[in-house]
Amino acid sequence: MKVNVDGEEMDVLAVWREGGVVKMVDQRKLPHSFEIIDLSDHRETAWAIKVMVTRGAGSIGCAAGFGMAQAALEAADLPEEEFTAYLNDAAGTIRKTRPTAANLFKAVDRCLKAADWGKVPVKVENVVKEAELILKDDIKATEEIAKAGAKLIKDGFKVLTHCNAGALAYIGLGTALAPIRRAHSEGKNVFVWVDETRPRGQGARITAWELEQEGIPYALIADNAAGYYMQRGEVDLVIVGADRIAANGDTANKIGTYEKAVVAFENKIPFWVAAPGMTIDLQTESGDDIEIEERDPEEVTRMWGLNDEGEATTISVAAEGTSARNPAFDVTPAKFIDGFITEHGLIERPFTEAFYWLYGQPGLPPGFKYAGT
Ligand code: MRU
Repeated sequence: MKVNVDGEEMDVLAVWREGGVVKMVDQRKLPHSFEIIDLSDHRETAWAIKVMVTRGAGSIGCAAGFGMAQAALEAADLPEEEFTAYLNDAAGTIRKTRPTAANLFKAVDRCLKAADWGKVPVKVENVVKEAELILKDDIKATEEIAKAGAKLIKDGFKVLTHCNAGALAYIGLGTALAPIRRAHSEGKNVFVWVDETRPRGQGARITAWELEQEGIPYALIADNAAGYYMQRGEVDLVIVGADRIAANGDTANKIGTYEKAVVAFENKIPFWVAAPGMTIDLQTESGDDIEIEERDPEEVTRMWGLNDEGEATTISVAAEGTSARNPAFDVTPAKFIDGFITEHGLIERPFTEAFYWLYGQPGLPPGFKYAGT
């Protein structure tokens, strides 16, 4: 995406690789400062995924792929058996960072598979190429999502989105924001309601910033204001991204998505999920089988921002010792979802059949029962 930093226009990706170094926009600092961070080995990259230097399913998938590429480069001089052990160990480290987004696991698996054949130098080359291919595929996928999803947006539409599913969350144009970007560039008059997205504020800190950069009209709202605008007829369409989509269409996304879907359903507002095949997990039968990350309760009891002197600071919003819970995602049952905006176009019911048709191996996985949507 193009960003304007202190008057200078830059073209950046959320994550990229320069040789053995992985570079990331430090999303913990946005919107108050724009910084690029260097991660010099796979362990540093794994740390950066865990602490959310980068975040969003696509960006952490690309980061995971690049972490694997770093591990392959780090082990390039080892004998074959030790190389394989090193790469498997790196895969384990990266898999342990964040459990929910399918992209991370798929990226690690793709890189391991790329190391399946050849002597060590060939394996290294193949892992590095695979990591670059994940990035390239993701960029292309977001362009297709943009085209397909823009058809849902009519001139004058007010679209509500939750969390940040933009270019910083999914390399390229993003997922939920991709159709909005495209509709805007086609000259349609589109307005975006941006949910703040407590506790980490991805909507307030990142989505609002991305829309501002692109001159797309928006308003930031408190999470609990979304229903109010839906009920008043001021939302024409809801588009969110996804972290993992189960075979029956149940979708894990940022905590609070489920509530938005239920209120959209109650108010007969179309609710669409934008995500490519990398986020669709056919090995997971339904949302019940999706692991939901639980993060540090301090993210709920404390908030980060700038004080009146312009200094970055953290404040307590609850009394010292307050008990808190912090699930990072929830699952929206497929029954509340009108369709999926994918790199293959718009997918409507029946979801499972469409997913298998587009993304499945021939035949269903052992024990798979069609749960229906
Ligand atoms: O915890 P985060 O910020 O990584 O969660 C991100 C989201 O939930 C996004 O909505 C999701 O990844 C879709 S955008 C690729």
